[in-house]
Amino acid sequence: MARVILQNISKVYPGNIRAVQCANLEVDDKEFAVLVGPSGCGKSTVLRMIAGLETPTTGTIRIGDRMVNDVAPKNRDIAMVFQSYALYPHMTVYKNMAFGLMLRKYPSDEIDRRVREAAEVLDITELLDRRPRALSGGQRQRVALGRAIVRRPKVFLFDEPLSNLDAKLRVQMRLELSKLHARLQATMIYVTHDQVEAMTMGDRIVVMLDGVIQQVSPPLELYYRPVNRFVAEFIGSPPMNMIEGYLESGEHEFFFVALENKLRLRVPKQLSVLMKGYAGKAVVMGIRPEHLSANKEQREKKGEGFTAVIEIVEPLGSELHVHLNLHGKIVIARFSSEQIPQVQQPFVLDVDTGAACFFDPETQRAIL
Ligand SMILES: Nc1ncnc2c1ncn2[C@@H]1O[C@H](COP(=O)(O)OP(=O)(O)O)[C@@H](O)[C@H]1O
Ligand SMILES: [Mg+2]
Repeated sequence: MARVILQNISKVYPGNIRAVQCANLEVDDKEFAVLVGPSGCGKSTVLRMIAGLETPTTGTIRIGDRMVNDVAPKNRDIAMVFQSYALYPHMTVYKNMAFGLMLRKYPSDEIDRRVREAAEVLDITELLDRRPRALSGGQRQRVALGRAIVRRPKVFLFDEPLSNLDAKLRVQMRLELSKLHARLQATMIYVTHDQVEAMTMGDRIVVMLDGVIQQVSPPLELYYRPVNRFVAEFIGSPPMNMIEGYLESGEHEFFFVALENKLRLRVPKQLSVLMKGYAGKAVVMGIRPEHLSANKEQREKKGEGFTAVIEIVEPLGSELHVHLNLHGKIVIARFSSEQIPQVQQPFVLDVDTGAACFFDPETQRAIL
């Protein structure tokens, strides 16, 4: 069992730089966990502490059943793959992959078996005699992966391993890493700043901001039930539309009122119940672009839609991103591309208010 457990982990670098603050996280055995967040939020620091390359200022780290705070990196049974491949230029691919095992004095037939098996998995068998300079970026990244695989670690740690690859190769390697995870059945912790990588690869995603873990959830829960505004806006592209307004209580229900009273949307019953405490108070409504749709049901009059002026239409093939001006506020809608709407025309939209998220403007937390 190779669970990884962080308890109250903080890291303060010299100069009082608080890189990680009181992180608690349990990554299950065989789980693929992704740490995601903007640059500088502390992702690499967390990973490096798990690897033993940085010492936590406070807290404990467990790998499997062992507390590893005082265990040297080489004895932690982990392998780390970085963005820079750091291959030895003078060694062949074979030797690059074998080298770590040679240092650990594995018998040469065992080394040979592991290297060939990893090369097979990564589809680089025919490259084993080449040197790194004769490889493409994607091939080098595979060798770096191979070097980790031959170690058969309990836990793989990846720090933005695909960031140096071009967009197409990134998508391909992303899939291959997911397959590799299924095949190796190992615990993997993967760091990226790219929310699409996080969403597509992670069993669970750990969103970080300013050294603090914001939310740990499976991808769709993160998408549909973000715990705060930051997570809501970080995950999803185009991002969730945020409209500041307040809750007005009607006779039997609430209305979300915004944009100098020009926008008035009925809040569905089941949400109204949860938001009782916010009657008359300021709230922020978050609505995803796909929850705004071309008006078909004439819902505007019932408080379930609005009219806005189309400013820009971005055709992306199967879908359109439509930027609309709603009384001075730009909102983005995602339409199917069956019909391209006219720019500079008023356009009536239905709002799926049942799918909206509401946030407390002071705490920024979701109102659940
Ligand atoms: N060795 C270090 N010494 C001092 N500050 C550091 C060091 N490494 C990282 N930091 C700082 O800690 C914060 C978190 O960095 P890092 O973990 O690398 O973030 P991320 O990987 O999310 O981009 C940043 O403010 C960064 O400048
Ligand atoms: Mg980093």
